[in-house]
Amino acid sequence: MWRAVGRHGGGRATFEAAPNIALVKYWGMRDPERVLPYNSSLSLTLDRMRTRTTVRFDPEREADELMLNGTRIEGPAAHDASRFLDRVRERSGVTSYAQIRTSNNFPTASGLASSASGFAALAGAAAIASGLHLSPRTLSQLARLGSGSASRSIFGGFVEWRAGTRPDGRDCYARPLAGPRHWPSFRDVVVLIDRAPTKKVRSAEAMQSTVRTSPYYFERQREIPGRIARIRRAIARRDARTLFPLIMEECDSFRRVCETTVPSLDYLTASSRAVLAEVRAINDAARRPVAAYTHDAGAHVHVFTLAVEADGVRRRLGRLPGVRRTLELSAGPAAHPI
Ligand code: DP6
Repeated sequence: MWRAVGRHGGGRATFEAAPNIALVKYWGMRDPERVLPYNSSLSLTLDRMRTRTTVRFDPEREADELMLNGTRIEGPAAHDASRFLDRVRERSGVTSYAQIRTSNNFPTASGLASSASGFAALAGAAAIASGLHLSPRTLSQLARLGSGSASRSIFGGFVEWRAGTRPDGRDCYARPLAGPRHWPSFRDVVVLIDRAPTKKVRSAEAMQSTVRTSPYYFERQREIPGRIARIRRAIARRDARTLFPLIMEECDSFRRVCETTVPSLDYLTASSRAVLAEVRAINDAARRPVAAYTHDAGAHVHVFTLAVEADGVRRRLGRLPGVRRTLELSAGPAAHPI
């Protein structure tokens, strides 16, 4: 069992979590207060990048404090973290304020999903420090309240976040589909775009305007269960030829509902679009799906491929104008205490 250091409302714990990239996107909540999504989603937790967070509840404190990479943070990020701790205090009965010390080994708010690893690590550290003994599934439900995508970062490898149907959200949780060693040759080539604009609106807010205004939102909802079933099967069989076209189909569907949102949501730059076009060209020339692109609510592009193709794909994409650099990532581990 995970145990906190210190007692009597003064517990401390450290937890580490990695970002994840969605193969099937979460975009739209049926209940924003409980962060209950309309559709299930599916992701890959990544290796090499991580957030490490320490939470220390301290009866002497007069407010929560958030330190990011050694600097005190104020404003919306600190407010969101403190609101999240309120949920932990409600459940655990701890009444003291806390210091949160967090560090990312990759740029924050760079479009590399720091809110997923951030809230997964915060959930784990706060739960242990407050004496809550949660299973990974329940921890995924807690992390979800901070950032929906964080629910998936509790597990390693390929992960599904089940939307569930209950109004109380008891059947809404993440679960592992295949661990990080299931498909050793699976790669995510992250294509970092120059001058990627930083996100102005949190996804949680932007997605609700899609639900309200995109004429294609509920059409997309009808497609998703079948697509998830096919993607799950392809992952289980390590079948890249089936999987890659499905991932691109899903990404195109996500982009379509964003672009048809009023006002329109366009997260890509001309360089991001050139990356998508280059992946299509690579596949057309090979007459088979060598790679698959996806992107979240940001300009960077994730290109899935297999280890044997990764060097060639990186060389092709790295040459495109506006591409700063590429990283080659694999499946990463579950979130865990330190
Ligand atoms: C497009 O749950 O990360 O990445 O914390 O408000 O930024 P915020 O929302 P978050 O939204 C994720 C949206 C997505 C798709 C996905 O990861 O499934």
